[in-house]
Amino acid sequence: MDVKTAPGHGCPVHHGTDAGPTLPGDGATDYERYLRVGELLSLQKRPEQRAHPDELLFQTIHQSFELWLKMVREELGRIRQTLDDGDLHTAVRLLRRCRKAIAANTAALAVFDTMAPNDFHAVRRQLGNGSGAESPGFHHIQREAPTVWPHVEALLEREGETLEAVYLQAGHRSDLFALLEAMTDLDQEVHAWRTTHLGVVKRIIGRDVLSLKGYAVHQLEEDVQRMLWPALWKVRERVTEAEGTSPQ
Ligand code: HEM
Repeated sequence: MDVKTAPGHGCPVHHGTDAGPTLPGDGATDYERYLRVGELLSLQKRPEQRAHPDELLFQTIHQSFELWLKMVREELGRIRQTLDDGDLHTAVRLLRRCRKAIAANTAALAVFDTMAPNDFHAVRRQLGNGSGAESPGFHHIQREAPTVWPHVEALLEREGETLEAVYLQAGHRSDLFALLEAMTDLDQEVHAWRTTHLGVVKRIIGRDVLSLKGYAVHQLEEDVQRMLWPALWKVRERVTEAEGTSPQ
């Protein structure tokens, strides 16, 4: 791809060659072929199939959520491997990637603030028995994130360290501290997604109601308190206790 300056325009822009697409598949350009844009955009109901125009918003936000969670799930596998390899720099970078991906989805939830409660109920009737709580991506993350923890413990053991030592002795092992804080960041971001989602649910269907699944919305308030790596939150209590400042 050659970089040229567009006429009458100061910014360099990328122009493809005029040779046309080189990749196999459907689509007028290599962009469409590589990304399979045609297939992707056929995965949402067409306007005439929708019971309500907001179905497009509903499908878009959930489908993109599944895509991002697919990536996070695969990155969790790579994070386990980098921990086994002792490559903390890469582990921290991938944890940051996952965190930013979750944060992007938290930001996307704000689009739901533009949905009127009764419009949601028109969409809801189209879902069969479906619920976001059945999200495969969400379940994979809930199941797989905890499986990273034994790899952290093995790393600490190989290094002759403990979680308490890393947190209680500031600056003692800044590399391990950075890793554990990156994990804490990701855990906090998933918690933020769940908390923001809870806000969306309350705004659209209310708090003291049952979902289609018969699940009490207020029960979600307890569910969102479950963290992926509880030890990272417990160790802070140890630091507070060690400082002797915990409430009597
Ligand atoms: C109109 C907006 C939404 C409403 C009213 C809503 C409603 C609910 C309700 C009532 C639950 C509790 C479980 C159940 O269904 O019985 C739930 C859980 C869940 N929903 Fe939604 N939801 C909405 C948007 C979303 C979106 C946009 C996503 C994903 C992008 C999503 C994913 C989930 C997940 C992953 C859970 C399990 C949450 C947890 O355990 O913290 N939902 N939702």
